[in-house]
Amino acid sequence: MPCFKQMGILAKQCYATSQRSPYFSPTKQLLNRKRMKQDNILVTGAAGQLGSVLVEALQEIYGTSRVLATDIKPIENHEGPFHILDACDGAALEAVVRQWRITQIYHLAAILSAKGEQDPFKAWQLNMTSWLNVLEVARQRHVAKVYYPSSIAVFGYAAAPKNTPQYEVLIPETAYGISKVAGENWAYYYHRRYGLDVRSLRYPGIISHQSMPGGGTTDYAVDIYHHAVQRKPYECFLRADTPLPMLYIPDAIRATLELMEAPAQRLSVRTSYNLAGMTFTPAEVAANIQKYLPDFQVTYKPDYRQAIADSWPQSIDDSFARRDWGWQPQYDLDAMTRDMIAHLEKKYALA
Ligand SMILES: NC(=O)c1ccc[n+]([C@@H]2O[C@H](COP(=O)([O-])OP(=O)(O)OC[C@H]3O[C@@H](n4cnc5c(N)ncnc54)[C@H](O)[C@@H]3O)[C@@H](O)[C@H]2O)c1
Repeated sequence: MPCFKQMGILAKQCYATSQRSPYFSPTKQLLNRKRMKQDNILVTGAAGQLGSVLVEALQEIYGTSRVLATDIKPIENHEGPFHILDACDGAALEAVVRQWRITQIYHLAAILSAKGEQDPFKAWQLNMTSWLNVLEVARQRHVAKVYYPSSIAVFGYAAAPKNTPQYEVLIPETAYGISKVAGENWAYYYHRRYGLDVRSLRYPGIISHQSMPGGGTTDYAVDIYHHAVQRKPYECFLRADTPLPMLYIPDAIRATLELMEAPAQRLSVRTSYNLAGMTFTPAEVAANIQKYLPDFQVTYKPDYRQAIADSWPQSIDDSFARRDWGWQPQYDLDAMTRDMIAHLEKKYALA
């Protein structure tokens, strides 16, 4: 197991290499240090925007056969073990954890912010039932580590909008946000009461080229690139001047893996770590795309998601993550735009 300092050096080396080849996975070098570990990994919600990319990264580290991807729907072009599993079905979850001798769980299954507002009760039920099932089975079957993705949606109007601190008032405006605040507190409770090693990040909006987002308020920042590359105009559902914190998927995956690899004694936050990458408005991302695709046109037609975005922070103070486990984002808006366009141009040329 690399020591904490080595992990930081390793991450920097990975980044340097990733700049040379667009296909280099920053997790590959972690693999060489860790391959001897015999963990069995369960991922719930593995067919989603994050899960489909995280599963591949985990497969590189632990080996394809040791990562069990699960979801209520199949994953496109998936290689490796996969089960249909409803994370709300506690008995089915327990059977999988037992049969596969699972040692780590990444619980990604959820209903996200915008979709959650269409059926708030369902969002609460699914997000809480599945998470409590995961915590209970992890406790009962002595699972070594559990990962829980939280969100900037835990913050609402009561929170400082700029450089929002780690320990801030949490009064969210959405059912999704309420479920994440409760989820973070359950993570803390299981850690304190039962010693369960639960680790968590408050992701900002995640932007990826590999998979489409599943109903969040920041989904526009993925859609906009797909439209631009296909030479189609884009109608944005947020106002042009709405700043939101965002993170490019390689940074999101690396943050997740680095947090999960950090020595437990370094982790001072057992609810969920603030995590920052970049902040931009729809107008700023549109202008950045136009640097490379000058004919790209964007119009703005704010809908119900504007109110959700307005209640969220504009930027995040992630100093606890930087201090405790060496977090450093590596992509800014321009680096992300170049990478997104390059990957999506390949994708649509092949289609
Ligand atoms: N994508 C983002 O911008 C973002 C930001 C903050 C936090 N997060 C969190 O990260 C996690 C993953 O998000 P994502 O963007 O991949 O979401 P997504 O909507 O793309 O994927 C969620 C997956 O969960 C699956 N699912 C739904 N109900 C299920 C159930 N009962 N049992 C098993 N699977 C079920 C869905 O089929 C889907 O594949 C979520 O917990 C989300 O709250 C995401």
